[in-house]
Amino acid sequence: MGSLSKTVQELALQGEEVPENFLYKDGHGGSADVPVMDVPVVDIGLLGTSAEELEKLKSALSTFGCFQGINHGMSLEYLNQVREITKQFFHLPLEEKQKYLREENDIEGYGNDMVLSDQQKIDWNDRLYLVIYPEDQRKLKLWPENPKLFRSTIHEYSVKIQSISEVILKAMARSLKLEENCFVEQCGKRSKLYGRFNFYPRCPRPGLSLGIKPHADGTAITLLLQDETVEGLQFLINHQWFRAPIIPEALLINVGDQVEILSNGAFKSPLHKVLTNSERERISLAVFYTPDSDKEIGPFEELMDESRPRLYRTVKNYVNIYFQYYQLGRRPMEASKIQD
Ligand code: OGA
Ligand code: NI
Repeated sequence: MGSLSKTVQELALQGEEVPENFLYKDGHGGSADVPVMDVPVVDIGLLGTSAEELEKLKSALSTFGCFQGINHGMSLEYLNQVREITKQFFHLPLEEKQKYLREENDIEGYGNDMVLSDQQKIDWNDRLYLVIYPEDQRKLKLWPENPKLFRSTIHEYSVKIQSISEVILKAMARSLKLEENCFVEQCGKRSKLYGRFNFYPRCPRPGLSLGIKPHADGTAITLLLQDETVEGLQFLINHQWFRAPIIPEALLINVGDQVEILSNGAFKSPLHKVLTNSERERISLAVFYTPDSDKEIGPFEELMDESRPRLYRTVKNYVNIYFQYYQLGRRPMEASKIQD
């Protein structure tokens, strides 16, 4: 795995020049002029008691593969603090950020798009990628000491996101009439949370470049804290792109490939991408709830019968499969999908 010699942030400072390997010549850079996604807003606090809210969750995950989660127990003020330290980190001088540089053959650390092949288009995005939970899996040497509140804030955030994830995974199971712990148990006691702090500098060539190319997440579920004012994320629903709206106090929660497999396709892992913006920079924090790499992930028996045949093969260490396929420009899900 290689990496670029320059961060996107440095390239952005050079002015109009955008290197060729960022540019999509075929009109695939995307357009901001698409309809807004009518994505359901789910009150997470009601999922334990309201059958109606549970049905809303189920319907959102089977049609959109995502929902806006509110009433998750974190205040807007606290979420803004998390956003603020993310911004502060990327605004530090380059030499400071480079203390946490991703090393060759590692995915954790500060850096930009991994260059896996010569033909690959590169994303207009710098990121800091860290295991944030459980505590004993953290590589603290890659955790910024600056801004001063980074470590304590992200520690607290990771504990909260872990517990919110479990609430959601349990509700998802109940909504499918499954035993409530089945998703959590399949992910295993050694499931991890990865935090991907994203920074999208202003880009002089919007429409010709992408912040993140179209992909589905390789996770069980992803919990995204979007920028509080700058849009950019889009989802592909029934072959059409839609803008993800911003609700500042919400987490945008989406299904990843491994829950699509476990649910035998009842829940969809949606394709999504991020546009670039010439006017304003954007940040986000995606947290990836990732099953233990030793666990076998295949559809639950209860979700397969004559009318619902098995749609996916069982996979193990999906994150590895994910990168192999991604490198070839293929959708990682192909490794599991049984072709009809
Ligand atoms: C991701 C992702 C979306 C965003 O990091 O996988 O899809 O809005 N991020 O930054
Ligand atoms: Ni994603």
